[in-house]
Amino acid sequence: MSLERIRLASLHNKVMSAEQAADIIEDGMTVGMSGFTRAGEAKAVPQALAIKALTTPMKISLMTGASLGNDLDKQMTEAGMLARRMPFQVDSTLRQAINSGQVMFIDQHLSETVEQLRNHQLRLPDIAIIEAVAITEQGHIVPTTSVGNSASFAIFAKKVIIEINTGQNPNLEGLHDIYIPSYRPTRTSLPLVKADDRIGSTAIAIDPAKIVAIVFTNKSDSPSTVTEPDADTQAIANHLVAFLEQEVIDGRLPKNLGPLQAGIGNIANAVMSGLLKSSFEHLTMYSEVLQDSTFDLIDAGKLDFASGSSITLSERRNKAVFGNLEKYKQKLVLRPQEVSNHPELVRRLGIIAINTALEFDLYGNINSTHVCGTKMMNGIGGSGDFARNAHLAIFVTKSIAKAGSISSVVPMVSHVDHTEHDVDILVTEQGLADLRGLAPRERAIQVINHCVHPSYREALLDYYNRACAKGGHTPHILAEALSWHQRLEQTGTMQVK
Ligand code: COA
Repeated sequence: MSLERIRLASLHNKVMSAEQAADIIEDGMTVGMSGFTRAGEAKAVPQALAIKALTTPMKISLMTGASLGNDLDKQMTEAGMLARRMPFQVDSTLRQAINSGQVMFIDQHLSETVEQLRNHQLRLPDIAIIEAVAITEQGHIVPTTSVGNSASFAIFAKKVIIEINTGQNPNLEGLHDIYIPSYRPTRTSLPLVKADDRIGSTAIAIDPAKIVAIVFTNKSDSPSTVTEPDADTQAIANHLVAFLEQEVIDGRLPKNLGPLQAGIGNIANAVMSGLLKSSFEHLTMYSEVLQDSTFDLIDAGKLDFASGSSITLSERRNKAVFGNLEKYKQKLVLRPQEVSNHPELVRRLGIIAINTALEFDLYGNINSTHVCGTKMMNGIGGSGDFARNAHLAIFVTKSIAKAGSISSVVPMVSHVDHTEHDVDILVTEQGLADLRGLAPRERAIQVINHCVHPSYREALLDYYNRACAKGGHTPHILAEALSWHQRLEQTGTMQVK
C-alpha cells in the first residue's frame, strides 16, 4: 500500500478492499465511473461488483466517459448487472446485449452527458468510482490517463469511491486541466482560445467528506487495439493530405492547418499517421482521444501540442510514453470531455474534424453507429460534437467492408448520425469528394466519381439516374433506397448476384 499517495491523512482510514467498497453499491443505483476510450477506468471495484452480482443479483445504471478496458463491460454484462449504460461502449458482449434489448443503451454526444446531469435531465449518480494517481492535501482527486466525465460525476455524486492505481505514473499529476462551466442562465464563455491554454485546476475539487472508500490497485489500462495502416487506410491518408496541402496553397488554411481532431479507430489513426510524411509542421491537436499517432507526430517534431480527454496507446507505445512522461508532459493536456468536445470551442478554434463513418450516402449523410440501420456498433461518441461545429467536417471510411459484400457508399444511409448539412469532405481509398457549396445533385456526382468502389459504381450511378428522372431536390426512389441493405440481410451481400 502506498499511503503517501493519499496526502490528506484524515482519509487514510477510508482504505478498504475492492470487495468491501463494492458492498457500498446497492441494487438500483446510478453509478458514474471514470474511463474514456479504455483509459483510466476504475478497475478493481467494478470487477468485484461483477463477481458479487453473479451470486447476488443486482442491476445498476452505469455512466462513464466513454468505453472501458479490462473487459469490464463484458464482465458486467455477463453478470447481468447492467440495466442501463451510457454514453459509449466498444465491447462485443455488451454490444450483443444492447442489440438483443437486454441492456438499455443511451447513445449520446459525449459532450452532453454532464450538461444533462447538471440540468437534472438525467438522474444524478448516487455514487462515483474514480481512478486516481493521488489524493491531494485538500482531498482533491488527481485522475490518471483520462478525465472524461470523472470531475462532474465526483461533484454530483453523494458518495465517491477512489481507486488509487499505483501502477500509473505519479508524474501524471499536473497533466490535467479541470474546468467546470458555470450554471445557466449566467454562464460566461469558456475562457479558452488556443489548444494549449490551461483554464482550470490540476485536480478534481470535491468535499473530501464524500469519499467513502479508497481502494488500491495496480492494474494497467488495456492496450489499444489499433492496427498498423494498410494499403487502403494509407490511400485514404494520402488523399486527405493532398487535399489539405492544396487548401494551404489556395490560402484557405494556415500552414499548420489549425487544430486537428481525429476520432477513434484504425482509419482515423492511420490518417493521422499519414501526416508524418506530409510537409506540415507545428501542428496542434484539439481532440478527445490521443492515440499512437499523436506521439509519433510529437517524436517526429511535427506536432507542437495535443489537447485531449484521454491517452489510449498500443502496447508498443505505452512504455515509451508513460515511461518518459517528462518528455511529453509540456506538450499535453487532458480535459473533461465537455471541454475537449465543447461545440463553442470547436467552432471558435476552427477545428479540422476527422471521423470515421460506417457508411455514407449519395448526398453525404453519415451513419457512424448502426449496422443495417438497427444493430448498434459502438456509438456516436464525440463525432457529432466536432463535425457539426468544425471548420472542416471530414468523414473517412473504406469504400467496401467484409470482403466487398458491403458497400460503405449507399443510395441512402440506413441510420443518420450526421446529416448532409454537417459534412464537408468524404474520403475513401478511391478518392476524395469535396461537398462544400454543392447542391445535393452535385454532391451525388462527386460521391459517385470519387468515393464508391468500382464494383458498386455502376449500380449507384444507375440508381441516381433513375432517381433524377423521378425528380426532387434530393432525388430518391423510396421503394429502392434501402434495397442494398435488404439484399445484404437476405443474401449476405449488397451485390446483385
Ligand atoms: N457495414 C457493416 N460493417 C462495417 C461497415 C459497414 N458499412 N463498415 C465497416 N464495418 C465493420 C468492419 O468490417 C469492421 O468489422 P470487424 O471489427 O468485424 O473487422 C468494423 O466495422 C470496424 O471497421 P474498421 O474498418 O476496422 O474501422 P475503425 O476501427 O476505424 O472503426 C467505426 C470504424 C465507424 C466503427 C468507428 O470509427 C466508430 O465507432 N465510430 C463512431 C464513433 C466516433 O466516430 N467517434 C469519434 C470520436 S470518439
